[in-house]
Amino acid sequence: MSDIPQIEREVDKIVEMIKDSTYLVVFTGAGISTESGLSDFRGKDGIWTRKEKGLPPKHGKHFDEVKPNKAHYAIKELQDMGLMKYLISQNVDNLHLESGIDSSLVAELHGNYKLMKCFECDERFTSVELKWDREIHGRGFRTEPQQANQPVCLECGGRIISSVVNFNDPMPEKEMKISKDHAAKCDLMLVIGSSLSVQPASNFPRKAKKNGAKLIIINIDPTTQDDLASIRITNKAGDILPQIVEKLKKVL
Ligand code: APR
Repeated sequence: MSDIPQIEREVDKIVEMIKDSTYLVVFTGAGISTESGLSDFRGKDGIWTRKEKGLPPKHGKHFDEVKPNKAHYAIKELQDMGLMKYLISQNVDNLHLESGIDSSLVAELHGNYKLMKCFECDERFTSVELKWDREIHGRGFRTEPQQANQPVCLECGGRIISSVVNFNDPMPEKEMKISKDHAAKCDLMLVIGSSLSVQPASNFPRKAKKNGAKLIIINIDPTTQDDLASIRITNKAGDILPQIVEKLKKVL
């Protein structure tokens, strides 16, 4: 029996798989941001988990109050090492962009709380660019009536809405198309901090696997696609990812 701890053997195997991959895509969910102080949704203290028990969200920290954590920066290093070809994220917290991920290398499938978009031409703007004040102009959700005082698109004068995708909202076409292309091209998908409960986002790992890619899942609780993973690590992303990156630096 090897005296190397199991977790170290698994990290070594992941390092080998990343080293041997030609097209690594990373897929993230809310679990990658819990070590920044945000709640996830379906983890043991998740927003929906607690809501089902009649409890309020645990942390109550707002996106503006938190910073990227070690897991976000480890993914940024995979980008900088040229190993990560694309990042697909379900998170709206802006922490991947804030960690330095190139905006051309990430699809934020559920939008970004800092960004508004034009309902007509799909152009993106920050609230600051638009002079959009939520106190005066409201949240700008597509499902809410437009207000006469709301700023309009700086490009085409169209209606401005929040880029955040709420349940029953249509998914952003551009992000879905580019994510589909990268998921089809990848030979390895690293899934981090997602229960893989919500479609269509959670279809991407399954599709990648179907196209012949290998899946690695790093997640504390079980996910809906654990059976598809070549390696399944039940551990904190902020503990595992820096180990993977440090070992990759030694072998590349
Ligand atoms: N390291 C690894 N895994 C973690 C960590 C961590 N530090 N913290 C939490 N997790 C795991 C939890 O065990 C959980 O299974 O992350 C997973 C997060 O799953 P969800 O809370 O379901 O979040 P996500 O998969 O991103 O949800 C998808 O659902 O409510 C919608 O729009 C919302 O984008 C969200 C979508």
